[in-house]
Order: sequence, then structure tokens, then C-alpha cells
Amino acid sequence: MMASNGIVQDDSKNTTHKFDPNFTQAVINATGPKASPRVRKITASLIQHLHDFARENEITVDEWMAGLELMNEAGRMSDNKRNEGQLVCDIFGLESLVDEITYKLASDAQDEPTATAILGPFWRKDAPKRNMGDTIVFNIESNDWTLMHGQVTDYKTGKPIEGAELDVWHTAPNGLYEQQDPDQPDMNLRGRFTTGKDGKYNFYCLRPTSYPIPYDGPAGKILRALDRHPMRPAHIHFIITAPGYKPIVTQIFDRRDKYIENDAVFAVKDSLIVDFKPYQGDPKADFELPYDFKLATYEDANKHSVAGTTEESATGLGAKI
Ligand code: BEZ
Ligand code: FE
Repeated sequence: MMASNGIVQDDSKNTTHKFDPNFTQAVINATGPKASPRVRKITASLIQHLHDFARENEITVDEWMAGLELMNEAGRMSDNKRNEGQLVCDIFGLESLVDEITYKLASDAQDEPTATAILGPFWRKDAPKRNMGDTIVFNIESNDWTLMHGQVTDYKTGKPIEGAELDVWHTAPNGLYEQQDPDQPDMNLRGRFTTGKDGKYNFYCLRPTSYPIPYDGPAGKILRALDRHPMRPAHIHFIITAPGYKPIVTQIFDRRDKYIENDAVFAVKDSLIVDFKPYQGDPKADFELPYDFKLATYEDANKHSVAGTTEESATGLGAKI
């Protein structure tokens, strides 16, 4: 019942609200019987949170329109080389949170599988397959050549994993991924390497630099409005897959980077911070970077998954890769 002052009286609970107390439930109840249980559950929750957000902050039509315009602009800017919607999620920490929810294992084990980190918008499907010991760097002068090497093992048994594929990518010293930079050869600074029986890998890359995420669109507008910088600490991306093992998407971060504790997209985890060591043993490398990756079998990963990690979410990632 609406009083003359606009305050709504909810007679059933005998409480007074500023806004219609039945409205949100009516919207949730509009979901039809054929919606899947998961869609029904998360949509009801989304509607509840969206409505609560609008009520708590007394969002006006002008503010809602400004938000919509940012979303629409993000959509217009996005194509197969740029994913502005993902970028907006990233600066709000949403990709990092969803990554944590999807991959966290409920385990007290000392020895855990390699931690995951967000995919980001610059991964490309079908990077070139390369041989062990190859370089991923082309047409770049640098004093930061790095020999990265290590082993892929089963986190529980410690046994080497044969046939593991490391898909690796990082930016050039100008801070750009090759698809952002017409001066770099196609698929520069990317490669896929497959381990043999010993699970070992090695390849040449560069010690990466910190770089700004693209900030000429809605994500940049939001960062400026929040008085935030767009920088990511220097990192190298990986997707590690192996037959029978749950794939991991991750990044490793250079300890000496000045943004290591201040990542614009909140992806750094302690166990993913590494040390590049000056290297004398190889005329082709200025630095050496040893790093081992530990994977969990699907069975182990599912046994220890935290509540809320669903088969659907795992399958979704599998499909993407
Ligand atoms: C990246 O690391 O490639 C990245 C992640 C999130 C937003 C932009 C870039
Ligand atoms: Fe990156």
C-alpha cells in the first residue's frame, strides 16, 4: 500500500519501506519452469544483488544511463583483437575472483598444484608449436634474453608428465602484445612446447616489462574516475594442459617489478612470484628462470574442489582452451 508521502507500507510484515518491498521478488518469480536450476539460482541472486545495489545507493536514471553507455561502448569496441568487457571486469577484480573460485582446491596439503591466475584478453588460439630449446622472440634487440626451463610434474606423486603442453605468451619491451603492434611479426612472443618422457621443458624468451592495460576506452575512463593507474607488473602467461590432468591458466611475476604489489587487475599470488637470475653459462641468455609446474589429475582436482566449483565451470574452461 502506497501512502501519500510515497513511503510503501508492507501490510503483510507490518514494516515500512522507502521502495516497493515486493518488487524484487516479483521480478525473480517471472522466471519460467523450463529455466535450468543453475540459471534459475544465479539469475535470482543477480536480480536480488542488482536491485539491492540500486536501492542502497539510490541510483538515479542519469547514473544508470551513464553505466549503460559505458557497457555499450565496451561492446562497440570489442572484436577478436580486443575484449573491453573483460577489461572492465578485470579492473574490478572479477576475473581474479572467478579464477580463485573455479580453481581453488580445498586442501591443506603443503604441496599444492601450481596456482592459477587470470587468462586476460590477449591469449591467442593456435600459437605456433615449437621445439624444446627454441626461442619465442623475433626481431627484437634486448639485453633481457632469458632461458626459462623446468619440469611439469604430478603434484601428488611428483612424477614427470609426458605430453604436457605449455602455451606461453608475453609482451614485447614496448609493453605491447603482438596483436596490438603492427611492427611485430604475427605470433611473436608466443609458442607451444610439448614435454617428453622426463616432463622437462626449456625455451628462450625475454625478461618481460610492466605495461599498461589498454586505457583508451571504458576501462580507462573507470580507472581515471577512481584515481587508479593502469599498470600490470611484468609477467609471463601460461596455459598448461596434459592428457588426464586439469588444465591450468596462470602467470608468473617478476619479483623486482615496481607494480608487484599494485597490479591494476589484482592477479598476483605469492607462489607465482619468481626471480630472474643473471646467467653466465649461455651466450644466448642474460638471465635464467627455473620454474616447475605441478598439475592435478581431474580425479584429484574434483575430489578437492571447493564448494561452488562445478563440473559446468570446469567444462566451460576446457571448451575455451
Ligand atoms: C594481461 O595480462 O594480458 C591482461 C590481463 C587483464 C587485463 C589486461 C591485460
Ligand atoms: Fe599480460
